[in-house]
Amino acid sequence: MSAHEAEAILEPAATRVRDPLTGRSVWLAGMISDARVDDDVLSFTLRAQPAHGTDDLARIQEALLRNIQATGWAGRVDCKVRPAMAPGRSAPAHDHSHGHGAAPVRGMEGGGMQPHGGPIVKARIPGVQRIVAVASGKGGVGKSTVATNLAVSLARSGWKVGLMDADIYGPSVPTMLAVNGGVYANADKKIVPHEAYGVRAMSIGFLVDDSEPIIWRGPMVMGVVRQFLQDVAWGELDVLLVDLPPGTGDAQLTMIQAVDITGAVIVTTPQDVAVLDAVRGVEMFRKLDVPVLGIVENMAWMEMPDGTRIHPFGEGGGRRTAERYDVPLLAQVPLDGRIREGGDAGRPAALSGDVGKVFVDVADKIKAALS
Ligand SMILES: Nc1ncnc2c1ncn2[C@@H]1O[C@H](COP(=O)(O)OP(=O)(O)OP(=O)(O)O)[C@@H](O)[C@H]1O
Ligand SMILES: [Mg+2]
Repeated sequence: MSAHEAEAILEPAATRVRDPLTGRSVWLAGMISDARVDDDVLSFTLRAQPAHGTDDLARIQEALLRNIQATGWAGRVDCKVRPAMAPGRSAPAHDHSHGHGAAPVRGMEGGGMQPHGGPIVKARIPGVQRIVAVASGKGGVGKSTVATNLAVSLARSGWKVGLMDADIYGPSVPTMLAVNGGVYANADKKIVPHEAYGVRAMSIGFLVDDSEPIIWRGPMVMGVVRQFLQDVAWGELDVLLVDLPPGTGDAQLTMIQAVDITGAVIVTTPQDVAVLDAVRGVEMFRKLDVPVLGIVENMAWMEMPDGTRIHPFGEGGGRRTAERYDVPLLAQVPLDGRIREGGDAGRPAALSGDVGKVFVDVADKIKAALS
């Protein structure tokens, strides 16, 4: 019958199959062509690059078949494998070398910095006013907690907010916002983000099964981060918050290379080891000319039933870091069971008064700093 009908089946199926070479879905990577339905046969061509191994292609075909059947298609499936049509055909629409007023990224302007040899230049995300990274040097200090609570607070204040989970190996956003399930591409072949509490969210957790370990090399992580920036239908946003994984690795570097980050919020706990790592985080952003908007000291103290405060992680690390770099200490967030419960239940603490107010204050400060 028609190509249209074939696309309606293939698009949801292929959007959920990852191309190991680019880290994109095989749909967005432009690997599917010549889709047709004739009687009870769905036929299409899978466009492969020379670097695709036969194992890769077998896995892609298998996953496609499974997803096609999951759409309810009961007919035959005829998949031919052919070489990609022309170089570049596999990476549609997003040529990073033509960003507005694109300038090479500082420290990365040498020849050969990009896979195809040119300097790395940044692209703008159309409609996105600001990008704010939430980062830390050390893991488990509460970045994701701070990022989700900030996101819902900013959304409540009237801003249009996106939350991008750049933590590919340990995504938290699906749990912390209680959103799940796959994502689909719209007519422009952009991934449609999920929405919760007025926040548009994107996470690798929407694409990969919870129990499936993600064992990817750096280039794939970088591919996904780029895809989340460039291939998601973020729409008009006052701010896109990015929950970064801990440390100074591939995801951070890709973020900094791919887009202009308006500012970074550094999360730390009060103890010295965390502070040392936070310092590294601040230094990284400084070196790359990203303004540090301030420090959030998380798990600053615990309030006992009699009102006294104990300091399980020590005292003052956030303030010391803020003073050392002459940046604001945006907040000291107490260690409070309600904050953890809010995260686990997918209902961020910032939505309820009392313990959540501290996040609303941080949101106000950030908004003021960015307006
Ligand atoms: N102020 C707080 N009070 C109580 N629990 C908290 C607080 N902040 C974070 N937590 C809890 O601590 C755990 C780790 O927090 P979170 O996942 O936000 O850290 P992270 O820095 O994003 O970790 P990772 O480095 O693994 O991405 C979570 O279970 C979270 O609910
Ligand atoms: Mg996290």
